[in-house]
Amino acid sequence: MRMQTVMENVLVTGGAGFIGSNFVRYFLQARPNVAIVNLDALTYAGSLENLRNLPGEERHNFIHGDICDANLVERIFAEHEIDTVIHFAAESHVDRSIHGPAPFIRTNIQGTFTLLEAARKAWAETGDPSFYRFHHVSTDEVYGTLAPDDPPFSETTPYRPNSPYAASKASSDHLVRAYYHTYGLPCVITNCSNNYGPFQFPEKLIPLVILNAVNGKPLPIYGDGHQIRDWLYVEDHCEAILTVLEHGTTGETYNIGGDNQPTNLEMVRQICAILDEQLPQSPHVPHNNLITHVEDRPGHDRRYAMDITKIRESLGWKPNETLESGLAKTVQWYLSHDEWLKTIRERPTYKEWIVKQYERTDN
Ligand code: NAD
Ligand code: DAU
Repeated sequence: MRMQTVMENVLVTGGAGFIGSNFVRYFLQARPNVAIVNLDALTYAGSLENLRNLPGEERHNFIHGDICDANLVERIFAEHEIDTVIHFAAESHVDRSIHGPAPFIRTNIQGTFTLLEAARKAWAETGDPSFYRFHHVSTDEVYGTLAPDDPPFSETTPYRPNSPYAASKASSDHLVRAYYHTYGLPCVITNCSNNYGPFQFPEKLIPLVILNAVNGKPLPIYGDGHQIRDWLYVEDHCEAILTVLEHGTTGETYNIGGDNQPTNLEMVRQICAILDEQLPQSPHVPHNNLITHVEDRPGHDRRYAMDITKIRESLGWKPNETLESGLAKTVQWYLSHDEWLKTIRERPTYKEWIVKQYERTDN
């Protein structure tokens, strides 16, 4: 266990992305004595729009930079006396990793290595490792895929990543583990299932479906749509990270999940039903009619499910939102954030992606 008062200067990486920005907002509110340095390269997936109107804004210091830049990262550790790292920065979209894996190898593996090295150097000089923490945010995708009757993934399930994205995250997990065992770096890893909620970039299933449905565009379902994901509302993930950060044991990994495992088709139908209710005047009611089956994702993992017994029993965390309540909040958020959506949709990088993934046949 670790004393909460020790945590004063926290480096959050990737804090302008979906989960990172939700975490920054949540953390500033939850821990009023902590200062955050937020290091983010503002790739296509990151946006300062995600960081508007933060509570305790004066404790948030945004630095536009790359986690692979060793000089910059070392300087941040020294100048800000960083005692805690919460590492979100990554290339995170499986489909993009299939089109072009190189940035995934660079950011997810090289970038994690750069941060680990900087932490090792900075913290070795100052002594007692119990004052520090390196929290690595990872994914359930490192475990591969489940057959229909397999038990859910536990912390001891062997790693069998199937996409370039998952393989790069698995590599980063192995590096973090090695730094704990070899150098005694005070690390902890959380492996989480699919998140959804405010500020998710609309290339991922849920925001893409909401956006397309509102605009009367096809809702693309890969293959038969019977793939299963374990969905968690993003704020529940933030709470789980803070719980592990403050009460978890170094050298351990903790699975985090939502205890919700619908098929993709069920999920999309549920979103359509919420939209039918919230937008009864829309010419696109019933939104279900927009569902369109498209070519499957190569190597598409069939089923994920997380066993969250360890975090529930050892740290007392469990999700607060049901899929129903979380989805209703999420749809409501997207319907009331036109400006945010407009800014993202108008970016050339977003338009290019939609054409590349959904509107061309020769890619
Ligand atoms: P995201 O793609 O929305 O955000 C990633 C952020 O990292 C962006 O702000 C981007 O600008 C930044 N970034 C990318 N490369 C960088 C670099 N080289 N240097 C500095 N910043 C860089 O991702 P997300 O969905 O918020 O995921 C965050 C983390 O959580 C990732 O590590 C991901 O693997 C993990 N995760 C995500 C989910 C999910 O469902 N989204 C589930 C489990 C785990
Ligand atoms: O499981 C955790 C992972 O969840 C995270 O590590 C990743 O960073 C995150 O992107 C997410 O990966 P997925 O590939 O599961 O998420 P995505 O939203 O891309 O897809 C969810 C499911 O929906 C998946 O089975 C593929 C399917 N899908 C997705 C898109 C974008 C479709 O059927 N159609 C689509 O257009």
